Amino acid sequence: MNNQTVTARIPQAFAPLLTQKKRIKFYYGGRGGGKSYAFADSLLLKGRMEKLLIACLREVQDSIKDSVYRLLCERISFYEMKDYKIAETKIENKITGSKFIFKGLRDQDIQKIKSLEGVDIAWIEEGQSISKKSWDILSPTIRKDGSEIWISMNREEENDPLWVLLAANPDDRTLVVKVNYYDNPFCPQELKLQAAKCQKESPDDYLHIWLGQPLAQGASKLIAPNLVRQAFMGKISSSDSPLVIGLDIARFGDDSTVFCFRRGRWCFKFETIKKQDIVSIADYCQGVINDYSPARIFLDAGGVGGGVYDILQSRGYRDIIRAVNFGGKAILEERYVNRRAEMWDNARAWLSQDLPVELVLDEELLSDLCSVNKKYDAKGRLQLESKDEVKKRLGRSPDKADAFVLTFAEPVYDRGKITTYGNGQVVIEDMFKQNKESKW
Ligand SMILES: Nc1ncnc2c1ncn2[C@@H]1O[C@H](COP(=O)(O)OP(=O)(O)OP(=O)(O)O)[C@@H](O)[C@H]1O
Ligand SMILES: [Mg+2]
Repeated sequence: MNNQTVTARIPQAFAPLLTQKKRIKFYYGGRGGGKSYAFADSLLLKGRMEKLLIACLREVQDSIKDSVYRLLCERISFYEMKDYKIAETKIENKITGSKFIFKGLRDQDIQKIKSLEGVDIAWIEEGQSISKKSWDILSPTIRKDGSEIWISMNREEENDPLWVLLAANPDDRTLVVKVNYYDNPFCPQELKLQAAKCQKESPDDYLHIWLGQPLAQGASKLIAPNLVRQAFMGKISSSDSPLVIGLDIARFGDDSTVFCFRRGRWCFKFETIKKQDIVSIADYCQGVINDYSPARIFLDAGGVGGGVYDILQSRGYRDIIRAVNFGGKAILEERYVNRRAEMWDNARAWLSQDLPVELVLDEELLSDLCSVNKKYDAKGRLQLESKDEVKKRLGRSPDKADAFVLTFAEPVYDRGKITTYGNGQVVIEDMFKQNKESKW
């Protein structure tokens, strides 16, 4: 395809990428605004007109797969731009000699960043994730006369560093443009339908995800109090589902260690102990295993939890005990930023299901559960505010809620009646017959 065809596919709002000379070109807005595509197309076009060194940057890039490399490859193939040669870690134009390179900023040491000194255009994708520190190193490095920094981002918070530094009060060398999905003539119908659904069902999320507004402070709670109150009034009273225990272990002086007991839709008991040292907690846990024969205990592996886990493992409970890292990768990585967000959302789903559920009536548990604010990252994945922020607001650690959400760490399927239960030196598959059941 010729260059005109490419230009014709760049929405009007992005024309200044090609026509204006600005030090900073700052594009922001919600999902589906066409930012990534228009930046990719414009850069590919520029790179075939003159020799440019183009750096595609983001805060963290563990592998080239995290970068816009793929998108650029797709656009090259879509336009059949045969003058571009795609190598494993870079893309080059065989005629002009232009080169695209890909880097993460967070792990760059100063030396590596220096390699960016010859860059003509730096494209920062997901600008909302860029720290002030990364910006302070990068900005003076992109120093070639006439060099430009292009930024594409979805606003996260009121004080996103690049927003505050560059776009809140732009100088005359900075272009700031807002684009949303309705400005994108190529926005797929599917995305428009998703936007409409979101607008109807959850207006706060719509403003943030689709209209690119920063999250209103404290605006959206993950769990609504009425869901918890409803569960307090539930009458399940018994269940054949496997017993799952969530164990939130004290980390600091004033926290308690909490066990939460749940069978399917019946969460019937909390036990709180003040013991702090790992051996006492492990002993107590062993007692719970002997008394209640749980199918699983999920414990928080952070802090001293790791030690408790090791002790119980060495005592032969490795098939019952599972260590959960709240900050670790989610099982559904494309939907949740980490395990913590995933477990909390599973708990929310449990509370909002159509079938009745029962939860121990406990006002402290209610305020724990309803204290957490949610937000979404640039990929639209659910993220929770940090535990420190929650603690500040509550004035304590939400231990009971954490123990409760730990029971949702992984689905535990009913494997039928327990056949043997020995000294703990048994494998769970031996103890239970194969069976199926509902997820939670
Ligand atoms: N020039 C184009 N030609 C064809 N399709 C396009 C073009 N620009 C955008 N699209 C379509 O619009 C969708 C959204 O565009 P894009 O991914 O660039 O948006 P964005 O502003 O980067 O937002 P986000 O990445 O948050 O969704 C793309 O997935 C693609 O389907
Ligand atoms: Mg994008």
